Amino acid sequence: MSEENNIVQLKNIDVTFHDGEKDVTAVKNVSINVEKGDIFGVIGYSGAGKSTLVRVINLLQKPTKGEVIVNGQNLTELKPKELRSARRNIGMIFQHFNLMNSLSVFDNILFPLRDTKLSKSERKAKVSSLINLVGLDEHAKKYPSQLSGGQKQRVAIARALANDPEVLISDEATSALDPKTTTEILDLLSRLNKELGITVVIITHEMDAVKQICNRVAVMEKGSVIEEGSLLSIFGQPKQQLTKDFVNTSTRISNVLEEIHEAGLANQISGRVVQLNYLGESTNEPLVVSLYKRFGVEANILFSNIEQLQNTTVGIMLLSLTGDESSLDQALNYLNESKVNVKEINLKDEVNV
Ligand SMILES: Nc1ncnc2c1ncn2[C@@H]1O[C@H](COP(=O)(O)OP(=O)(O)O)[C@@H](O)[C@H]1O
Ligand SMILES: [Mg+2]
Repeated sequence: MSEENNIVQLKNIDVTFHDGEKDVTAVKNVSINVEKGDIFGVIGYSGAGKSTLVRVINLLQKPTKGEVIVNGQNLTELKPKELRSARRNIGMIFQHFNLMNSLSVFDNILFPLRDTKLSKSERKAKVSSLINLVGLDEHAKKYPSQLSGGQKQRVAIARALANDPEVLISDEATSALDPKTTTEILDLLSRLNKELGITVVIITHEMDAVKQICNRVAVMEKGSVIEEGSLLSIFGQPKQQLTKDFVNTSTRISNVLEEIHEAGLANQISGRVVQLNYLGESTNEPLVVSLYKRFGVEANILFSNIEQLQNTTVGIMLLSLTGDESSLDQALNYLNESKVNVKEINLKDEVNV
């Protein structure tokens, strides 16, 4: 990874708020590198420090400690005027859209162009092309109150793109939207990334959003980044418990285990129960067949979920295995040695995986 490919570098960032008597450290020693062209996801529960961290990227939030380098420029060293210009290179969208209700769609998007050198007709042409880009041609004259949530977010996206930023930051931009509209907005962000080459940083508490478009992910908890990696490594080999929780919620396996527990079904499931996570070539059927052929172990599939992430198969299975003890041990060893991540689960007293 060469330095030039990094468009956003946060180095050892601390942000401490002085809240009356006590200090709150919202961000603790966070270092992140976002490469040009990434769709970089930052996921964590509410209060983890995500919004504070991304506000550091354009210095809306000054870090207590650390360096912020965007496009090779150390923002903390810039003069106010230089900083204003550097900020135009970073667009932002939010959960509540932050549109101006007294302005039409057209005028909302025109607003950030007020200080530019463009002529009046150039500005109008620019706004029209942005409106077209986000699919709002029929709505240019409407006011925010006449639009759906998804349409409002499209206006906010067009406005954020008015100054041709290289980086677009989305802070929970889909959190107030229904699932279908969420997918449409994420598709739009993905298209802007591909067609305009914009680097996108997405802040969210929803793994499904990350899964849909991100190529890299950082997981935040209590102000720190606790895990970071490619989407595939985060999904295929999550290491920290919080990361596992996010992955398990998104694959629905958490729900299945809870249902088994709540319905009192644990006693009716015989044999040893294992959870398998795998990436790439392996698929359900050959695994189950080979357990029987090699070890005489019968595998009953209690749950399985397979999806394609970035053209790679990511699978998860919950199996109950029956056979004699030594064959079962051999079968589990075999799985462990192949590229499958195996975890034995005690359904009777364990709901969390
Ligand atoms: N301006 C502020 N003053 C004091 N505390 C703040 C301020 N902004 C955020 N915090 C605190 O910092 C922590 C992280 O907040 P935030 O960055 O908004 O998290 P997230 O976006 O992950 O929900 C929270 O405990 C929050 O209460
Ligand atoms: Mg937030």
